[in-house]
Amino acid sequence: MNYQIIELEKCDSTNTEALKLIDKNKELAEWTIIYTENQTSGRGRGKNKWFSEPYKNITFSVILKPNFLPLCNIFYLFKVSAISIVNSLKQFSENIKIKWPNDIYFEKYKLGGVLIENILYNSEIKYSVIGIGINVNQVDFFKYNLNATSLKRIINSEKDIDLKKLLHTILTELYYWYNELKHNNYNKLNKHYKENLLGYKQQIELFVHSKNENIIGEIYDVLDNGILVFKENNNFYYFDIDEVEFLLK
Ligand code: BTN
Repeated sequence: MNYQIIELEKCDSTNTEALKLIDKNKELAEWTIIYTENQTSGRGRGKNKWFSEPYKNITFSVILKPNFLPLCNIFYLFKVSAISIVNSLKQFSENIKIKWPNDIYFEKYKLGGVLIENILYNSEIKYSVIGIGINVNQVDFFKYNLNATSLKRIINSEKDIDLKKLLHTILTELYYWYNELKHNNYNKLNKHYKENLLGYKQQIELFVHSKNENIIGEIYDVLDNGILVFKENNNFYYFDIDEVEFLLK
């Protein structure tokens, strides 16, 4: 695989830097990566922020041009990124899972997050910026009041984990799974996504905003458009992102 990493000593948000770069260069190559170990104002989905202690974790954004992907299948970029991260982190623990739609969790703690921003042109995806943050060597989350953990905490290690090596592993996985998507291997992607999905065919509890109540059941499926199909006894519910919250124990 052929990629170009632009490493910044410090930046507000690698996604913002990637978007600026796209804006400046009319024909930017795919697999340009903006990487920093010191991101000062990381952005999350919606109004969320992404906190990362300097030089402890990895934060990066990958610029892709998925113009082969129909807009109705844009959710597959979430699947590709989540599968790639989980596969890369399996070496640390088998219990690292995808929390729908594409958060990365260890038990009830957040380990990583993905923010995807797309630039559309004439109903075609011209660019996708896949922004990934993984907590690697940070051990203190308490002082930030975060329900989070890191790889170093999970494996209970004295030694730090090599950030660059991990970055390379994730990029290699991403390259592989993105090519699966390019070749329309949707079944394979769905299978891997579901196999690593927290609550798939396993009991979990959700808080449903519209009902203002909790329901217990299992994830039955995730549709092409990302809708979560949840089964409670013999009732099926369809949820969009942000309609439910996971109550993890
Ligand atoms: C989320 O959990 O809501 C998504 C978090 C995504 C964080 C990453 S860190 C690298 C990239 N740059 C950002 O500003 N955000 C993403």
